[in-house]
Amino acid sequence: MRVLGIGASPRKGNSEALLDEALSVPSIAGEKINLRKLTLNPCLSCGRCEREPGCVFKDEISAIYDRLYDFDGIIFSSPIYFGSLAAQAKVFIDRAQFAWAGRHLLPRPRGGKAVLLVVAGMRKRPDFFRNAEEIFKIWCICLGLEYRGGIYFPGVDAVGDLTADQRRRAREAVRLLCQGQGGSPPSSVEIGEQRNSS
Ligand SMILES: Cc1cc2nc3c(=O)[nH]c(=O)nc-3n(C[C@H](O)[C@H](O)[C@H](O)COP(=O)(O)O)c2cc1C
Repeated sequence: MRVLGIGASPRKGNSEALLDEALSVPSIAGEKINLRKLTLNPCLSCGRCEREPGCVFKDEISAIYDRLYDFDGIIFSSPIYFGSLAAQAKVFIDRAQFAWAGRHLLPRPRGGKAVLLVVAGMRKRPDFFRNAEEIFKIWCICLGLEYRGGIYFPGVDAVGDLTADQRRRAREAVRLLCQGQGGSPPSSVEIGEQRNSS
């Protein structure tokens, strides 16, 4: 399965480590893009994409969207920031407006599978993950991608906090989420430590 991994953290940290684990799954042939290395032009709400196909920006984000349907799947990783996805992720997601606004101008896309990987410093806020997941799901719907589920690791804060066991479980969950054909996707896979401290 040919997969594009998109990492949204501004640092080389935990969510990127999860993404690396996911892309190391033997059934996955992965390519990784770190959004922090790109020039991130946010949507201008210029309205041009309502009249003409595509985005007014001809930049690195547009280049990713141009290639999105070349892959069988997308694995997207982000830290939780203030109960949501990181700003880098949101800039990238908002740029999908060309697909929403241009849905009458563009061919109906063939969707690959999509999986979300999320880490958060706090331990007892699964609602933060739900917020991030809802945003990601809306993005998937807009682009015709099949959301397969998300993997959530709470209580992972400092770089290097991920344990070998968590990495192993991430690989296994991604393998399960990426296999499977159409039909009803599995419910979100939530794994990680849910101890009583926050
Ligand atoms: C600006 C900022 C906001 C954060 N907000 C939250 C938060 O709302 N909830 C939480 O559990 N952790 C929060 N964290 C902690 C990060 O989610 C945590 O450090 C995570 O491991 C970072 O992932 P990364 O290593 O992939 O960047 C925040 C960290 C930063 C820098």
